[in-house]
Amino acid sequence: MKIEITEVGPRDGLQSEKVLVPVANKIELIQRAIDAGVKRFEATSFVSPRAIPQLADAEDVMAGVSDAQDVIFQALVPNLRGAERAARTGVHEWVWFLSATQSHSRANSNCSVEDAIARCEPVRDLARAEGKRAVAAIAAAFGCPFEGVTPTAQLLKVAGALVDMGFDEIKLGDTIGTATPSQIRRTVTQLKAAHPDLKLILHLHDTRGMSLANVMTGISVGITRFESSLGGIGGCPFAPGATGNVATEDLVHFLHAENYETGLDFDKLITHGRWLAETLGHPLPARLLSAPPIGATQPLDSAIRAVG
Ligand code: COA
Ligand code: ZN
Repeated sequence: MKIEITEVGPRDGLQSEKVLVPVANKIELIQRAIDAGVKRFEATSFVSPRAIPQLADAEDVMAGVSDAQDVIFQALVPNLRGAERAARTGVHEWVWFLSATQSHSRANSNCSVEDAIARCEPVRDLARAEGKRAVAAIAAAFGCPFEGVTPTAQLLKVAGALVDMGFDEIKLGDTIGTATPSQIRRTVTQLKAAHPDLKLILHLHDTRGMSLANVMTGISVGITRFESSLGGIGGCPFAPGATGNVATEDLVHFLHAENYETGLDFDKLITHGRWLAETLGHPLPARLLSAPPIGATQPLDSAIRAVG
């Protein structure tokens, strides 16, 4: 069975780096991920550069990667201004995002959930006029740093409003990494029952080490698309305590061990993950950057022996 992975490191990952990453390194990150087999990216965000200075160079990044073949580039678009910027670049899919809770909406989008939904209409209309695909992303879908666990009914209401607006694909963002397997099961099952044709994608953060359990649970209820970041970098700057996404290296290692196909080259991911750590200048959370993969062997001769 094939599992599709969207690489979000260039967007979710780099938005939370403390120092500004040069455009050339961002382009190289995308090119390296393409080399490892990635077919879909969140490449950047066309958001306010005051909100996210790290991604103020969105146009330049897109100019550097747009000639890539057989790759779909997504970018976050928060309003009409962002959509107009994205329309002038090689972005294929616009990711309209909003929050499931009022408090995270205020922090992340400077408006209420209702105003965010209203603000989407011109973006959707421009996407149609430009022939671009628009997908939706719900942040704080499972938990909110200000309001606690997100009630499933509340998430269903926001998702329903997006479906009414014409979205047929929604990313569910576990922004602060508090989703549990039972919550994933309940949420996905109820969403599928309410909207059988809706495509769902899980965007998981590994803040509490539950991301791979949530991936497995997602697969068991029919999810085949996940988002991850090389090295496990990432986090929403407007969600206190947020940390990185599930690492692409760890996700691919796990999925291959469980006999799922991803189309990604694990060894190349490790090479490129190490390059990323060197380029960013700090260790990255991906486990498989320090632990050898399942089945790897060490020479016995060089091992310490418990000689009594
Ligand atoms: N691109 C560039 N500049 C933008 C912009 C965009 N998409 N949207 C707004 N701006 C600029 C405006 O031009 C205005 O600039 P000015 O003061 O120089 O005239 C300023 O930002 C304020 O615009 P306003 O429409 O009042 O926006 P806001 O201050 O209410 O912020 C958002 C709303 C959504 C633009 C902002 O909160 C944002 O960018 N959030 C993104 C958060 C994010 O990416 N989080 C991580 C993902 S989970
Ligand atoms: Zn995220």
